[in-house]
Amino acid sequence: MLELQHISYTVQEGETTLGILKDVSLTIGDGRLVVFTGPNGGGKTTLARIIMGLAQPTAGRILWNGQDVTDLGITERSRLGISYGFQQPPRFKGLTVRDLLTISSGDDHLSKDQCCQYLTRVGLCANDYLDREVDVSLSGGEVKRIEIATILARNSSLMIFDEPEAGIDLWSFARLTETFEQIHARHSATMVIISHQERIISLADEVVVVGDGTIRHRGTAREVLPRILADTLGGCPVLEKEAMAQ
Ligand SMILES: Nc1ncnc2c1ncn2[C@@H]1O[C@H](COP(=O)(O)OP(=O)(O)OP(=O)(O)O)[C@@H](O)[C@H]1O
Ligand SMILES: [Mg+2]
Repeated sequence: MLELQHISYTVQEGETTLGILKDVSLTIGDGRLVVFTGPNGGGKTTLARIIMGLAQPTAGRILWNGQDVTDLGITERSRLGISYGFQQPPRFKGLTVRDLLTISSGDDHLSKDQCCQYLTRVGLCANDYLDREVDVSLSGGEVKRIEIATILARNSSLMIFDEPEAGIDLWSFARLTETFEQIHARHSATMVIISHQERIISLADEVVVVGDGTIRHRGTAREVLPRILADTLGGCPVLEKEAMAQ
């Protein structure tokens, strides 16, 4: 179980303190699939980075399976079964796809067949990719899918995916949602998926709408989707103010 208790995150910009996350509390049970959604800049990635240990909260505690992990680094959290797929994955010049999958799985003798299974789940053909370097020669969507395959290979108990749909074509996206559905059906991992896609939102046990550094709504997809649609029909407050003044 993942527990976020009163998480706040501020950054200093000159004289001003910006509140990026404001007293966010959330509990996610084992095997659950939770989708974080909400407007750009709302705080979703920051929350994911805080869960992974890539950013340190200014206040609050993070508990994973009852253990306080707030002061642990990414390596230790990774050992405890937490993994995170970046919104914009890094490239690894000099390392092949096979190397990355082998490192992620922790199995020095990962077979070609096993590599192939992970790559197939994200819609890639192992023959075309296993020996490719994860450098600039790969397209954005390819790098994104390879990173997701490495998370699957890691077999973590908490998988966090940051906009897995970004840059991915419709065919691979369909394969990817199937993969998420299968993991969820087997209850083999807890998943936090940051997404703007209705298809992914509809897979969730719970949808958490993060906006302006707070949780705006929580509920099932059926409850939350109409509220998101109502929210997005609102206009830009600055333009509205200007229109009123005219
Ligand atoms: N180190 C920082 N310094 C200044 N502002 C920051 C910093 N880190 C995050 N922010 C701001 O915090 C807000 C939340 O960012 P975050 O990346 O968490 O949003 P998001 O919900 O993931 O958005 P998107 O949907 O665009 O990916 C943004 O306005 C961002 O500019
Ligand atoms: Mg983000």
